[in-house]
Amino acid sequence: MRVDGKAFTTIWADKATASVTVIDQTRLPHHFELISIADVEAAGRAIKTMQVRGAPLIGITAAYGVALAMRADPSDDNLERACGLLKATRPTAVNLQWALDSMRRRLAPMPPPERFDAAFNQAAQMARDDIALCEAIGRHGLGLIKEIAARKPRGASVNILTHCNAGWLATVDWGTATAPIYKAQEAGLEIHVFVDETRPRNQGAALTAWELGQHGVPHTVIVDNAGGHLMQHCEIDLVIVGTDRTTATGDVCNKIGTYLKALAASDNHVPFYVAAPSPSIDFSISDGLAEIPIEIRAQEEVSHILGLGADGDIHKVRLIPQGSGALNPAFDVTPARLVTGLITERGVIAASREALAKAFPERIRA
Ligand code: MRU
Repeated sequence: MRVDGKAFTTIWADKATASVTVIDQTRLPHHFELISIADVEAAGRAIKTMQVRGAPLIGITAAYGVALAMRADPSDDNLERACGLLKATRPTAVNLQWALDSMRRRLAPMPPPERFDAAFNQAAQMARDDIALCEAIGRHGLGLIKEIAARKPRGASVNILTHCNAGWLATVDWGTATAPIYKAQEAGLEIHVFVDETRPRNQGAALTAWELGQHGVPHTVIVDNAGGHLMQHCEIDLVIVGTDRTTATGDVCNKIGTYLKALAASDNHVPFYVAAPSPSIDFSISDGLAEIPIEIRAQEEVSHILGLGADGDIHKVRLIPQGSGALNPAFDVTPARLVTGLITERGVIAASREALAKAFPERIRA
């Protein structure tokens, strides 16, 4: 996608110099800065501190992290150590485990001297695949937006609500929830996006608003609690969110607050779609509430807020009284019954075991 008119992806790498570069998402939207990741420890830190975040991008960064580890020491022990270090960074998005499993499957049978080259190529292939998956989601989701546009009076915008950032910043390119939006813009449809600010880390206000702005997509940032009200007043035609882990039965784990949006959408008969690339689907589990580990993050993300000071730097200010406790679950689970459909790279399907098994038969163990 684009930053100040220039083409960018969120991550790129050069095998000859063993360098991996990412956009530092903790500095957006106020500062656009790149960081260089030189070893597996730096890759782990970038994921843990959320300089890179979003389920697909976490997976790709981890894959490059393994490649960097193989450059330093391609032994079996180091392969296991690197996978362990990266796996421990964030627990909820299944893409991390998926990426590490694919790297391990490819590298473990190989003689160690061949591992760096193969690991780098594999990570690069995964990055290219991620772009293709997101673009396919964009094409399938565009159909949904077109259907709604066809029912609206000429010139009226299709109003889409999204939560958190499932945009291109959360993937290598295109995004998942935003891919249909960017495709609709390319197709010349009138669209407008309501962007949930997404407390506590404000990925909507800081990241989704920034990237939509960079692409000239009309959008409005709203507080997290406004979505239900807007749905009651018919201001929202469609909700599209991303997912960190979707079960084999279609339960969807995504950024905290997604469940409340799904409840409001259901009560107001607003279609609620989840953009779900297959690496975000965990076919080994069936019960999202019982089986998905929910990341509990630092209280400070709730008790304090970050903003741009008059000096042009980013500052942290306290919101809650000294002595008050805070709790910070980062994700919640939306039961499949509240999901109108999953927008996958293989088409729009029901959030059900049957539909998922039919769309991805190779992922179902005999
Ligand atoms: O905590 P984050 O910012 O990594 O959470 C991101 C989300 O919840 C996204 O909606 C999800 O990863 C899908 S990204 C295509």
